[in-house]
Amino acid sequence: MIDRLAAQGVLRANDRGGYTVPTDRLYPFQWNWDSAFVAMGFATFDAPRAWAEIESLLRGEWDDGLIPQIVFHAPSDDYFPGPDVWGIERDPRTSGITQPPVLATAARKVLESAPGSGSEARMAAIWPKLRDNHRWWARARDPQGTGLVTTLHPWETGMDNSPAWDAALDRVPTTTRNAIRRRDTGHVDPAFRPRAIDYQRFIHLVECFADAGWDPAGMLAASPLRVADVGTNAILLRAERDLAALATRFGTPAERTEIEGRIARMAPALETLWQDGFYLSRDLISGAAIPVRTSAGFLPLFAGESPHEAALAATLQAWAGMVRWLVPSTDPAHPQFEPLRYWRGPVWAVVNWMIADGLRGNGHDALARRVEGDTLTLIDAHGFSEYFDPTTGQGIGGATFSWTAAIALLLEGTR
Ligand code: DGY
Repeated sequence: MIDRLAAQGVLRANDRGGYTVPTDRLYPFQWNWDSAFVAMGFATFDAPRAWAEIESLLRGEWDDGLIPQIVFHAPSDDYFPGPDVWGIERDPRTSGITQPPVLATAARKVLESAPGSGSEARMAAIWPKLRDNHRWWARARDPQGTGLVTTLHPWETGMDNSPAWDAALDRVPTTTRNAIRRRDTGHVDPAFRPRAIDYQRFIHLVECFADAGWDPAGMLAASPLRVADVGTNAILLRAERDLAALATRFGTPAERTEIEGRIARMAPALETLWQDGFYLSRDLISGAAIPVRTSAGFLPLFAGESPHEAALAATLQAWAGMVRWLVPSTDPAHPQFEPLRYWRGPVWAVVNWMIADGLRGNGHDALARRVEGDTLTLIDAHGFSEYFDPTTGQGIGGATFSWTAAIALLLEGTR
């Protein structure tokens, strides 16, 4: 049984005055998709604070509609790379890449969980920013209208060191101008974090984008890493559907038609990622499917109805036969599966929440309950950890993590 007050206490303790850090010290700023989940968590007990979380994230939105991965509201030496490495002069300072676009889905959920004039007014006020962000995705990351958006950095996928990115990252040089002064490995056991060579490539990419002046077309042309991430594309499609629902009340008929036009392109394009019996990301430089099955491959269920729901459910059942706890972030049968290292194997509560939602939406209630039950049991037994070992359940990474507490509140409310 989740202690709701303890979960609320995690969110309160990580509140830095209108925005929430993912956890103390390891992540001392506001992160994009973390805050979307945090807003949904706050909405279970404090709707005004949920809206404040979204509004503070949107204060970091660029004029062209980019919602950055990080908003550096206040200085901290606890994290690398800080604002000086990004070198972007804005107020508030931000990074210059993005993260999976959960925000429209979160805004809709906050609105629905706290209906009333206060929520309506706050939703109406942020509508133009949500609309502009979805236009940014189409313009900046799918300028040719293929229906699939491109991600340029593993940090944009949110699944930083997933084995899915290994081969594409191998093409990225390891040279950097900036000295790499990692702070994360001072807060968390290095065995649970990305490797040194991963960071060299992560920073090389940041410098490449800075050299392109953070111009979307220049970044797309210059980046040595370009992938159609199945996770980002599925989450974006779901967010477009939530945005379309919001548009009926907060947008114009023309805006709704525009969103539906994008959905009509994206839905069939997502299906082209179905390869060899699973949804796989695509390397847009080689043009080939990336043959690594990860938890992101279940997220098309979250996007809407999938013609492959039965095969996905069977694959998830097969994974359940190889590990004790669902959902491991990488196929446990894959040679690069590592149960303790960040996105190479551990279970993440937010991904579980999206997969469970998608399973239920596709008629797999029992499997959805299994995923939700595993998530709650792990949190109950091992605390609000950043992630969990799928073989033992051990909580690893940062402790007292905001998005894990948010998911505990969301799931506890449904059982
Ligand atoms: C990190 O620094 O580990 C984050 O995942 C980047 O968003």
